[in-house]
Amino acid sequence: MLKPTPSAILFVCLGNICRSPLAEAAFRHEASLAGLDVTADSAGTGDWHVGRPPDPRAQATALRHGIDISTYRARQIAPADFQRFDMIFALDGDNLANIRRLAPAGHRAHVGLLLDMVSGREGQAVADPYFGDEAGFDVTWRDVQAAARALVSRF
Ligand code: 4NP
Repeated sequence: MLKPTPSAILFVCLGNICRSPLAEAAFRHEASLAGLDVTADSAGTGDWHVGRPPDPRAQATALRHGIDISTYRARQIAPADFQRFDMIFALDGDNLANIRRLAPAGHRAHVGLLLDMVSGREGQAVADPYFGDEAGFDVTWRDVQAAARALVSRF
């Protein structure tokens, strides 16, 4: 049985093709396992990859965990997101600072660092795997899965 919708949650990285799509996928998966009817999305602070599917390495990582993210498309965070979403999580500190700069005055969304949700990982970044090798995407997956589980456990 589905529990009532708790929140709408947005995950934000730089390009919206590596980390935040994986955070969205991991969260959707954990929320569905927990029977939560939740709204989740992801976005980038940059616009270079708008309209593109996730990086093939991110798609392969999600698929290894049984999740197809091939239909996701990158988009850039917009001021309206601060009204649409209750919680906006940055994947690292640079993106957190940029999100805060974009935030319209008086918005009510919680804006914070994703790994602040994980006990013992407060203040840490989900490392950017874009310029590294495939193994980096497994590290990303472990981080976003831990955050997804921690988030779901709060509902
Ligand atoms: P993401 O990774 O922020 O996790 O999606 C990146 C994707 C693209 C670039 C940097 C990071 N880029 O420089 O194009």
